[in-house]
Amino acid sequence: MKVAILISSRGSNMQALVRASKQDGFPAEIVTVLSNNPDAAGLDFAKENDIPTKVINHRDYENREDFDTDVSKYLTEQKVDLICLAGFMRLLTPDFVNRWRDRIINIHPSLLPAFKGLHVHERAIESGTRFTGCTVHFVRPEMDDGPIVVQAVVPILTGDTADILADRILVQEHRIYPLALKLIAERKVKVHGSIATIVGAAETEATLTNPLVSDD
Ligand code: GAR
Repeated sequence: MKVAILISSRGSNMQALVRASKQDGFPAEIVTVLSNNPDAAGLDFAKENDIPTKVINHRDYENREDFDTDVSKYLTEQKVDLICLAGFMRLLTPDFVNRWRDRIINIHPSLLPAFKGLHVHERAIESGTRFTGCTVHFVRPEMDDGPIVVQAVVPILTGDTADILADRILVQEHRIYPLALKLIAERKVKVHGSIATIVGAAETEATLTNPLVSDD
């Protein structure tokens, strides 16, 4: 499976996906890393790892449609099968999302459908919820919406700041994004309407069990 990763800045999830893809037998190949921001730090890592990079700067476009058209054209030329959004902070037009339906996934730092959008960690802490986490999901035209592939649960601890919580969640993001990509590339994820199911879920669910819950 040929995969494009779209980033806007740091690209630590992109790095986790690239590292996973280099492991023996991994069923997906990262064929390009595309950024809408020419200064994205993640581009350097991609270049150092011999992954072709591409910048399509949204500031060069008068509207979202034209930007998305050029992104889509480039990804088609690269024969991309699956797009992974990894900290890609541009809203994509419904036309783009529908064109790539069930072939775009995203990672979001909350347990969707809770806390969509921005300032996720501040809002989770302020809500008083005891647990948050991260989600890999297929992308639909509405923001942070779509069938859920993998989630990880992360506790919110007394005294957490948004930065501390973000770092704790990021560790789990780097674990679940490669797992989700592997499952999809192995064709084990089936989408039916708003639900994604995993073939052979019995063994997979064992890897997703909340480690905080004891069996005793
Ligand atoms: C990650 O925490 C990702 O979940 C979040 O941006 C960060 C990007 O970090 N994405 C969103 O909030 C999307 N709604 P990274 O560039 O180091 O991967």
